[in-house]
Amino acid sequence: MAKPNGDEHPMLGEGRGRLRGRAAVITGANSGIGRATARLFAREGANVLCCDIQETMTPRVDELIINEGGEATFLNVNVTAAGGPEEMVQTAIARYGGVDILYNNAGGGIRKQAHEFTDEEWNFIMDLNLNAIQRSVRAVIPHFLEKESGNIVSTASTFGLLASGNYPAYCATKAAVISLTRQMALDYGPRGIRVNCICPGATETPRFRGHPPVPSLQAATPEQRKRMADSNKALLRMARPEEMAYGVLFLASDEASFVTGHALVVDGGQTIAV
Ligand SMILES: NC(=O)c1ccc[n+]([C@@H]2O[C@H](COP(=O)([O-])OP(=O)(O)OC[C@H]3O[C@@H](n4cnc5c(N)ncnc54)[C@H](O)[C@@H]3O)[C@@H](O)[C@H]2O)c1
Repeated sequence: MAKPNGDEHPMLGEGRGRLRGRAAVITGANSGIGRATARLFAREGANVLCCDIQETMTPRVDELIINEGGEATFLNVNVTAAGGPEEMVQTAIARYGGVDILYNNAGGGIRKQAHEFTDEEWNFIMDLNLNAIQRSVRAVIPHFLEKESGNIVSTASTFGLLASGNYPAYCATKAAVISLTRQMALDYGPRGIRVNCICPGATETPRFRGHPPVPSLQAATPEQRKRMADSNKALLRMARPEEMAYGVLFLASDEASFVTGHALVVDGGQTIAV
């Protein structure tokens, strides 16, 4: 492998071939949790289709991966746009001969109370955090059913398990992702397809500084950092994106071959105490 890039975290270790030869589609892949996961998947031998609506992070995730000796392709796509999910799946099939892993990770939220949302704002969050997952599943499932194998992981949140003030659409959609995960695991398990999700706790990613993400966390206010660290009652810090990526890797790898319908909580103790 080539020399790692400057944003290397010691936690992101050498690959062990856990996804060798697999093709993965990752949404929200150019920033935060998606970016760390794309990089980890590539280290573990996967060919990664990195899907995102923004290319402002430098180096772009596919360039980062290729510089490190991995294989990746970037697709500028909006997961909420008509035809976006189909384009992701078709591109992966054309480029890598198929799809083995779909990681639905793109997501976001708007902080205000339920009565303050316009229809447009509410539907935007529903589309991004929930409807896009169903549409992406719809796009990939015929391919998975044909080969009787496939792996779906989605990013939910601890806020799908707990309430967070001024976050109604976010909490509702993330709870729905957990429920949808369980439901789809039931429907598709008999056809060789596993479906899981991860529930990250507070993770240091660019989204805390608004949108679009920029490459450093410098702009996060001390208040923002303190608020997020306060929510971790045991480890008293925010997570690194890599700490989520290893959870996703577990769910997507054969090491989790008997795990389906599971919501893996990786939260530094956020949900263990009141
Ligand atoms: N960071 C946290 O503390 C935290 C905690 C729990 C859950 N999550 C979830 O993790 C996921 C990733 O969040 P993050 O913190 O890494 O955020 P981030 O903003 O760093 O990255 C999200 C990426 O998704 C992309 N994206 C947004 N809308 C898109 C669209 N319509 N089509 C394609 N790409 C789109 C963005 O451009 C961005 O690159 C989200 O689903 C989020 O809800 C994050």
